[in-house]
Amino acid sequence: MGYFITFEGIEGCGKTTQIRLLAERLQALGHAVVLTREPGGCPIADKVRAILLDAENSALQPLAELLLYAAARAQHVAEVIQPALNSGSIVLCDRFTDATIAYQSAGRGIERDIIDTLNSLACQSQRPDMTVLIDCDARVGLERARRRIEAASGPREERFELESHAFHQRVRDGYLALAQAEPCRFVTVDGNSSIEFIFDAISEQVLARLAGKHAVR
Ligand code: TMP
Repeated sequence: MGYFITFEGIEGCGKTTQIRLLAERLQALGHAVVLTREPGGCPIADKVRAILLDAENSALQPLAELLLYAAARAQHVAEVIQPALNSGSIVLCDRFTDATIAYQSAGRGIERDIIDTLNSLACQSQRPDMTVLIDCDARVGLERARRRIEAASGPREERFELESHAFHQRVRDGYLALAQAEPCRFVTVDGNSSIEFIFDAISEQVLARLAGKHAVR
């Protein structure tokens, strides 16, 4: 079996940069790495992603939104994540089940039980071995995310960036509560530091855990 690492955090926390740097470091060390993301990660789930992030879909109901995330995840887990783990790869996934708890439960207010049930259905019991939470101030993250959208070409994936500061604050608090509840799985890093400082903190933790994993087996 491989090793499954997920990256989480609010909009603009810097996780996409960090996950790319980590993939390069691990590949340079000779590991087989699969870099993927949610929503998306395979052609069918990418089509669901386009619906979920399109700002024109402002009428999307919270329950419909939740079911679309679950549908995309079921496809992605079966088509990408499980096969990669079975072949011994390290899977780095930009967002996973914790995002659904933070956004759809803490953010939107959907009951946690419903989300837990859908998450376990979609994942077929596949859980992350380790989760990196990049924590940052909600205003700072949102500002960065909005600047990135303005600078980008292609479809504007900004349905969540248009949400209020209060929504993003609830999401951040939701993530911090998850990290507190599962301190063995989560590594929380301060997203307000420099890219290099954050990367050193993450890679140190990841390499230590990978060394521990090989020592145990
Ligand atoms: P990102 O790829 O830029 O991180 O965008 C994904 C967006 O989807 C982000 O705003 C968080 C949101 N999201 C959820 O609301 N629930 C989920 O389960 C996942 C995976 C993402």
